[in-house]
Amino acid sequence: MCGIVGIIGNNNAKDILIDGLKKLEYRGYDSAGIFVNNGQEDFLVKEVGKIKELENAISSNVNGAMGIGHTRWATHGKPTVENAHPQFSEDERFYLVHNGVITNYEELKNTYLSNVKFASQTDTEVAVQLVSYFSKQGMSTLEAFKKTVNLIKGSYAFGMVDKKNPDEIFVAKNKSPLLIGLGDGFNVICSDAMAMIEQTNQFVELMDKEVVVLEKNSYTIFDKDDNEIQRNSYTVDLDPDDISKGTYEHYMLKEIDEQPAVMRKISESYFDNNDDVKVEEKLVNDMAQADRIYIVAAGTSYHAGLVGKTLIEEMTDIPVDVKVASEFGYHMPKLSKHPFFIFLSQSGETADSRQVLVKVKELNLPTLTITNVKDSTLWRESTYQMQLFAGPEIAVASTKAYTAQIAIQAVLAKAVGEKMNSQKAKELDLKEELALAANGMQSMVDEKEMLKKLAHEFFINQAHAFYIGRGVDYDVSLEAALKLKEISYIHTEGFAAGELKHGTISLIEEGTPVVAFINDPNTSEHTRGNIKEVQARGANVLVISNEKYKQDSDQIVLSSINEMLEPLISIIPAQILAYYASLERGNDVDQPRNLAKSVTVE
Ligand code: F6R
Repeated sequence: MCGIVGIIGNNNAKDILIDGLKKLEYRGYDSAGIFVNNGQEDFLVKEVGKIKELENAISSNVNGAMGIGHTRWATHGKPTVENAHPQFSEDERFYLVHNGVITNYEELKNTYLSNVKFASQTDTEVAVQLVSYFSKQGMSTLEAFKKTVNLIKGSYAFGMVDKKNPDEIFVAKNKSPLLIGLGDGFNVICSDAMAMIEQTNQFVELMDKEVVVLEKNSYTIFDKDDNEIQRNSYTVDLDPDDISKGTYEHYMLKEIDEQPAVMRKISESYFDNNDDVKVEEKLVNDMAQADRIYIVAAGTSYHAGLVGKTLIEEMTDIPVDVKVASEFGYHMPKLSKHPFFIFLSQSGETADSRQVLVKVKELNLPTLTITNVKDSTLWRESTYQMQLFAGPEIAVASTKAYTAQIAIQAVLAKAVGEKMNSQKAKELDLKEELALAANGMQSMVDEKEMLKKLAHEFFINQAHAFYIGRGVDYDVSLEAALKLKEISYIHTEGFAAGELKHGTISLIEEGTPVVAFINDPNTSEHTRGNIKEVQARGANVLVISNEKYKQDSDQIVLSSINEMLEPLISIIPAQILAYYASLERGNDVDQPRNLAKSVTVE
């Protein structure tokens, strides 16, 4: 989703902005732009498409020590040059980049700006025109900016420049992420520390409704009540090498391959020298007292939560509900007496999950965020935190975060279960299972050539496909289907194998690809029956089974681990099939159309 960068006090502003925007490319976008000022002249360059195209459009004379840059993921108005950011005021004095959605932009436009000529269809332009409007009424730029921010409803992260005073960048945020970074003689802003990690590792977090004036050697923060406040920086521990593609053609394949190492890292991080599971005691105690656990998440993280439900219920006996964040916040069910909330999120920034967290916090209920990004918004705002340790995930399609989320939920379930004296929790040798999972993943990762051929055989020229399974295999089917559809654009459904015959089987015709998972001990025979049903109607069936339940005709056989954890291995061939299907269809694997990595609008 939209990404923001800005810098003040470095003569190389243009290159740093472009480099920062490239690091934010993974978030997904459809146009980009920069504004650079060198004290005498200023330059605005915007392009539709990739940063490469923006780079090609920037002439060699563009230079300056301050500037702002943006990648836009269209919400209001098509991806066009006019709608790309920075947006500017009618008198071309103020330039502004924005991430978020201004919900009352039409009302503001009608109330204050009926005489202003708008150049774009964006909600953002209202903000910059309003600053100009208030400034013309005699307010200082800071006053006009604060006044504008106070009037705006919705979500925003803003970086704004006043051409008449290029020694300051005006910054504000509400709900959308934005950080300040501190350098030696320069300062930066960015949506994500990754964008500026090569410039600095010192960042200052911003709270909702704060306004900041950034200069090259200082920053002044005003809180939501307009009091000037002090806040120190923290160190972000991010290795720039971790965000490079290395020798891989795509981040997605690199991240798929990293999964065995992630399992080992989780083992090292969450087990002590005696092989005892290591989780914050207060968190374990709090969760053990819950009468119901709510897992709230979106997309792939939601699918990981479905697997987590089985792990937590089996090992703690506490009932678990898994909820889609965008639904839960606005249609909250009647909660149990002592609920405990778990937020699962790779990015820690998902707006849908965050709005639920805000509501849950208002009810004074305990919350845990399990995320890959330490110090992200969900991390900071929840009672407890657990880190995924998956390393930066750049490809839009989530892979290693999914398996890491499952592994961390297993760690948590074991710690809480042991606290509650659960026999099942005590008996599960999780450290050993994670080692087995790493080996099983590696065996699949090593089968890329075979999987590439299967992807060609089953998915090329197909418009529709199905993944089916029962129990945790059904949970994995949902994730496998999401992987295939989001990057190959083949319409794919994940279905409970036994449910197909209740209607959806009418879609099966000659050649329809159906991928079946057979890893569930209670239902493998039933799923075999469902395979026969679709084969009888012409389906082309690909079976992913594990060595315990395999038959000779099964094309993909996985090694076997504890059945609750089998998804750690069974998802790997599905990720690789999706990768090759996308590649063969000529799609942009890492940045599929219409999608964003960090979904910071509701
Ligand atoms: C799909 C994918 C998305 C995310 C979803 C939630 O591959 O990555 O479905 O899982 O947008 O994002 P996070 O996990 O960052 O909260």
